[in-house]
Amino acid sequence: MLEHPVVPPAGAAAAPLYERPGRGWSYADFQAEPLLFFLEPYRRLGPAFRVELDGAETHVIAGPESNEFFMLARDLWSYRRSFSFIAHLIEQDLITLDGPAHAAKRQRMMPSFRLDMLDRQAAGMHQSLVELLEERAGAASDLRDLMNLAFFRQASHGLGMRLEDEVFAAVLEAEKYILQGTAHDIAHSELGRQAEAAFARVTGLIRPHLAERLARGGEDDMLTLMAARHTASGSMPARRELEDDVAVLLLAGVENGAHIILWTLLLLHANPGWTQEVLAELADLPSGDELSPARAPKLHATIFESERLRPPFPILPRVAVRDFELGGRLVPGGAPIIHALTLVQFMEEHFEAPLEFRPQRHLGSRQLTKLHAAFGMGLHRCIGMSQSRHQAAITLRELLCNWEIEYGFQPSLGYRMEAAVTPAETRLPVTVRRCASGG
Ligand code: HEM
Repeated sequence: MLEHPVVPPAGAAAAPLYERPGRGWSYADFQAEPLLFFLEPYRRLGPAFRVELDGAETHVIAGPESNEFFMLARDLWSYRRSFSFIAHLIEQDLITLDGPAHAAKRQRMMPSFRLDMLDRQAAGMHQSLVELLEERAGAASDLRDLMNLAFFRQASHGLGMRLEDEVFAAVLEAEKYILQGTAHDIAHSELGRQAEAAFARVTGLIRPHLAERLARGGEDDMLTLMAARHTASGSMPARRELEDDVAVLLLAGVENGAHIILWTLLLLHANPGWTQEVLAELADLPSGDELSPARAPKLHATIFESERLRPPFPILPRVAVRDFELGGRLVPGGAPIIHALTLVQFMEEHFEAPLEFRPQRHLGSRQLTKLHAAFGMGLHRCIGMSQSRHQAAITLRELLCNWEIEYGFQPSLGYRMEAAVTPAETRLPVTVRRCASGG
């Protein structure tokens, strides 16, 4: 049941403009403080307000009431218009489809992301991680790059392909243009052309792998399952749709998934007492045993706390198809909206001492989606959430139990917004070595 009126009552007041004392706001200010940026206007003005960013006015919705509203008002949002830059680029993208087309495509893709499929991929994903660590053992690495590559290789394995690192570099390049384009929403521009060329390069590199994989046939992986379901649907040439899907899944999932693992390592490094507790839990699990939250609660509580404390995407663009009212304020249909979805994760009324790393808070209780919002919510909630947590658990167990990470820097735990919320340090030099006692 929808609790909030979607049709605004006559006389609802316009969302108030937040005026920052002293000077205006810019996107660069947001990049410098992406997590707490909208807290002060939310406290002062409630869940719907306006801000001026780089001179352009935009509506903002924030706080638990906005997350709840967002989930309940299912047919209010147009993803095609919210992500028009991506929609311009990719015809059948899950992220930008709306209504029945989105529901049908999501249904076709969902089985590839179920836990039973992920469990069947776990051993191979683990193996691809170990191979990468062995390649890098003893050499100077950058922890951000290493985690990105580790996530990419495991994700490729899950899909059923062994994609070269060249594909990974092309994915990162395309992601850069797409993120910039989404932030500025300018499809017909130099940026649009660059994004188109970079995306075409990714699909071009994937094409022969896909052809080879499908020609082999008969195996049990995420891609094979997706291929069978797309063929059955006949919505567009299945091969083209699959090329786009693989590219989108890698673009949507690698850096953010890798960042959760990266942040978990840095947070554990700063909290040796808790690290020992996680290690003791893992030592009691026979190797090869599955790593579900029931089997490894402390490991998963640590991952959840990283998602809470360092969510990769604190804001997302939205467009409503008609006017609506939230907290007694009117937000017009068609206007650009910023949804500050993870602001709630930093509010002390929902998380005691919200800036502190306290994984224990997640033991024995699961947060409501509106309060633990890093993977989004509603109809477009992240399809890769379980995969992301699965890969995080595999990677952390392997690194914590069998490898020593020698840090060539002192992690500050400071952050800034780039493609995701990333460590403030531009370089994260480390060396990984297999532990003498490691398996
Ligand atoms: C920590 C890692 C990840 C985070 C924080 C994350 C975050 C999100 C968020 C916030 C959304 C909702 C977007 C919206 O409402 O506008 C989303 C959707 C999506 N994510 Fe993720 N994601 C992660 C990993 C992944 C992975 C690994 C994949 C793919 C393998 C993936 C694929 C997608 C797709 C395809 C959608 C669109 C779903 C739809 O529109 O129905 N994500 N993700």
